[in-house]
Amino acid sequence: MKGIVLAGGSGTRMYPLTFGTSKQLLGIYNKPVIYYPLSVLMLAGLRDILVISTPDSLPGLRNLLNDGSHIGLNITYAEQLEPRGIAEAFLIGADHVGDDPVALILGDNFFHGAGFPRILRACRDRLDGCVLFGYPVSDPERYGIGETDGNGALVSIEEKPLRPRSDNAITGLYFYDSDVVEIAKGLSPSERGELEITDVNQAYLKQGRAQLIRLGRGFTWLDTGTHDSLLAASQYVQVIEKRQGVRVACLEEIALRMGYIDADTCHRLGSGMKSSEYGRYLMEIAQTLG
Ligand code: TTP
Repeated sequence: MKGIVLAGGSGTRMYPLTFGTSKQLLGIYNKPVIYYPLSVLMLAGLRDILVISTPDSLPGLRNLLNDGSHIGLNITYAEQLEPRGIAEAFLIGADHVGDDPVALILGDNFFHGAGFPRILRACRDRLDGCVLFGYPVSDPERYGIGETDGNGALVSIEEKPLRPRSDNAITGLYFYDSDVVEIAKGLSPSERGELEITDVNQAYLKQGRAQLIRLGRGFTWLDTGTHDSLLAASQYVQVIEKRQGVRVACLEEIALRMGYIDADTCHRLGSGMKSSEYGRYLMEIAQTLG
């Protein structure tokens, strides 16, 4: 399965923070925002990842992640000239996807919860059509909402419904089979001029091949696209990391645990930034796990 991180957008809700940089290059506590969605793809076992962003933001993202080989990944890059919708990722990334299934994650989405890697891998292995991830929210009228039958099959999707049929917000993580490219090619822009991901999902729904996995109350999902949600995510990560002594979305640690890099490499990556706590943590886990 291939991976795509869609990390463009204009970030207008974050002004003036995003006048000079992409929101994906801002920080959640001690790491760049994009580490968090990238870690989700890594935990799903994906290594071939396309990062799509604006021409202005791509150089910064490239400086940060390079070709990904230092953490056992193959990261490539592509431009999205204007934010013409989430589904455009499959037109821009058509060659990258090829005949493979693909997982798309939005560059500002934050997920954390026990058992998530297991859920991700099970969804990947059993994929037939598409899998979406739902999260209970208190204000469903602000989101795309998915309703399921008793078996997790998606039966309806409503965009910002006045009278929501469920509280399951559809999050920014999507698994699709390789049909997604053809489906995206057949879309027309919506009234707001975007290729809508909800239209892709509706196509799978019509075929009866859409599942929605409900991430329960033990999970945290935030889209970090506003000042308050970015701060909330930072505070969340700080609390978990300080209290448990673990790191959330530490890419080098995930690479080590997944067997993509060895302990010596992890130690070397840590020692290159040993004046930061992050770097010292890498050196420590390299010793513990090595
Ligand atoms: P949004 O938050 O919907 O849009 P935005 O990033 O432009 O921000 P704002 O609303 O503040 O102007 O996007 C969600 C995520 O998806 C974000 O990480 C950017 C990404 N995205 C793209 O890369 N290209 C697109 O065409 C769209 C619609 C979103």
